[in-house]
Amino acid sequence: MINNVVLVTGGTGLVGSAIKHVIETEPVGSRFGKREGETWVFASSKDGDLKDIAQTRALFEKYKPTHASFLRDNSLINDNVIHTSYETNVQKLISCLSTCVYPDKVEYPLDETKIHLGLPHESNFGYAHAKRMVDVANHAYKDQYGSNFTSAIPTNIFGPNDNFDLEDAHVIPALIHKCYLAKKNGTPFVVSGTGKPLRQFIYSYDLARLFIWQLREYDDVEPVILSVGEDEEISIKEVADAIVEAVGFEGDYSFDVSKADGQFRKPASNRKLLTALGGKFEFTPFNKALDDTVAWFLQHYNSGARIGKVAV
Ligand SMILES: NC(=O)c1ccc[n+]([C@@H]2O[C@H](COP(=O)([O-])OP(=O)(O)OC[C@H]3O[C@@H](n4cnc5c(N)ncnc54)[C@H](OP(=O)(O)O)[C@@H]3O)[C@@H](O)[C@H]2O)c1
Repeated sequence: MINNVVLVTGGTGLVGSAIKHVIETEPVGSRFGKREGETWVFASSKDGDLKDIAQTRALFEKYKPTHASFLRDNSLINDNVIHTSYETNVQKLISCLSTCVYPDKVEYPLDETKIHLGLPHESNFGYAHAKRMVDVANHAYKDQYGSNFTSAIPTNIFGPNDNFDLEDAHVIPALIHKCYLAKKNGTPFVVSGTGKPLRQFIYSYDLARLFIWQLREYDDVEPVILSVGEDEEISIKEVADAIVEAVGFEGDYSFDVSKADGQFRKPASNRKLLTALGGKFEFTPFNKALDDTVAWFLQHYNSGARIGKVAV
C-alpha cells in the first residue's frame, strides 16, 4: 500500500485548521475525504520555526512528507520549505499566494497570467514580491529538477479560527468582533467607509476542499485562483448587514463615510478553476458560512482564540 504523508504547515491557522476540519469530516475515500494510505500532519510554529533551515529540515525529517502545502509568507519560509521539499523528494508542494500579489495597475478581472505584469501596490511591496518569488521558484525547480511544485491564489478568506483581534484582523472578523462588542456594550455599530466596495470572499472550509482537490488532481506548475465567481462579489454593506443579522444586533448601525474605502473592486476570475475541476463546485452560500463563523466566534470568545486584548 502506498503511504502518502501530507504535511500542512500553518496547520493551526485559518486555512490550515479548515483543511484539518474537511479532511477529518468528509467521508473517507471521497473526493475531499481522507484516502487509504494517507497520513495528514498539521504543523504549527511550535513544531518548528520555518524561518530556520535546521528546524525546517528537522520537521521534514520527522514526518517525511511526500506532499506539502505551506501557508505563510516571507522569503525565508518560502525558500526553506521549497528547498527542503526538493532535498527530501516531496512529490507535490502547494504554496499559498494571494490576490494581493497582483500589480497595482492591472486590467481586471485578475487571472493566473497577470501576476508579474507590474509593480504591486506599495502597501504590499514586501509581501507581494516574496509571494511572487514562490511562483518563480516553482518554475525554476521544475525546469532544473522536474519538481511538481505549484501554488494557489485565494481571494479574501474567512471562517472559524480566523484572527479576530481588532488590531490587525481582516474585514469580516473585524466587523464580527465590532458588532459583538456594540451589542454587548449597548453602543453603536459603526462600519468604516461607505460600505460600497465589492469583494469576493471564500469560506475557509470551501477553500480547504479546493486545496485537497489541487493536491490530488491538479499537476501543473502554473497557479490557480481559488475563489467564488466574479458574479458573486458582495459589498461591505451586504457583509455588515449579514453580520448584524447573525449577531442579532438591534442597536444603532451606521457607516462612517469620512473613512477611506480602499479600492472599489478587484475582481478575480475563477474560470480556470472551474474548468480544471471538471464541473461545478458547490460553494457554501455566503450567509450560511457567515452564520457558522459568527457561531464559532461566539463559542470561542472566552477560550483563548485570537480575539485580542481589546477592552470589552
Ligand atoms: N487570510 C486571508 O484572507 C488570506 C488571503 C489570501 C492568502 N492568504 C494566505 O494564506 C496562507 C495562510 O493564511 P492564514 O490566514 O491561514 O494564516 P494564519 O491564520 O495567520 O495562520 C498562520 C499559520 O502559520 C504558522 N506559522 C507562522 N509563522 C511560522 C513560522 N515561523 N514557522 C512555522 N509556522 C509558522 C502559524 O503557527 P502558530 O499557530 O504556531 O503561530 C499558523 O499555523 C498565508 O500564506 C496567507 O498569506 C490568506
